[in-house]
Amino acid sequence: MTTTDAGLAGSHATESARQGSSNQRASGAAADPERVSAVVGAALEGIRSAIREHRVTYSEFDAFKRWLIDVSDTGEWPLFLDVYLEYEVERVAAEDQAGSTGTILGPFWLDDQVRLQSPATLPMRDDEPGTPFVLAGQVRSTDGEPLAGATVDIWHTDDEGWYSGFAEKPPAGNLRGVVTCDDDGRFEIHTRKPAPYTIPLDGPTGKLTETAGWSPWRPAHLHLLVSAPGRRTVTTQLFFTGDEYLDSDVASATKPELILDPRPTGNGAEIRSDYDFVLETG
Ligand SMILES: [Fe+2]
Repeated sequence: MTTTDAGLAGSHATESARQGSSNQRASGAAADPERVSAVVGAALEGIRSAIREHRVTYSEFDAFKRWLIDVSDTGEWPLFLDVYLEYEVERVAAEDQAGSTGTILGPFWLDDQVRLQSPATLPMRDDEPGTPFVLAGQVRSTDGEPLAGATVDIWHTDDEGWYSGFAEKPPAGNLRGVVTCDDDGRFEIHTRKPAPYTIPLDGPTGKLTETAGWSPWRPAHLHLLVSAPGRRTVTTQLFFTGDEYLDSDVASATKPELILDPRPTGNGAEIRSDYDFVLETG
């Protein structure tokens, strides 16, 4: 990403985070002092332990302060937190959840995207590059009942790894949509296969990642929020078999059951995957 794109990504993700995540809007509940003390105390002790163990110097402490200020100034807190911490929050949440496997939401979801009826084609440019790709399937309850009117909110990068709304190049709304399933809970979404991408490298999150020698790459993926009335929304991502970054995802969000193996449809270069979702009572 360019400098402009990193700044754009940071500011938009910050604004989105202020409004709360898509399926867990801020409740406004008062913080529990005991819980704040336990969780924040444990986090601070983890940092103090690292200082002692690694003999952190004043020069390193000052560099840390400057980095924290940079993260704030560039609006990269949502990016940093979603890349390096969200997967643990998601794994804790998943321990008492039934239904389809989820993974992290990430910082690039946008509210109020175009609503489409299945079968649907996501908004795209006339010359949208990339392999034509179809994702199809059915949304069911944990009892196996089709969920009529379920919705599949889907967003992903283009063939160059850019998200609309977070980079200059793709137009607003590109490769994003909220698809309503048919009466049998079935959906069919026509789009383009996304590409792997790096987190923005010119901001403090990317600079930290490169300085530490960690891979900044995410494997290609689709983001999905699958919802139905009275059901817990499944927040997930779907990946593609053979992707070279599946085992080195900077966001640690890949799971074996979330990997697609698309097959040619016989319609030119088009490929297709079928993937069903199961939603528990919410
Ligand atoms: Fe993503």
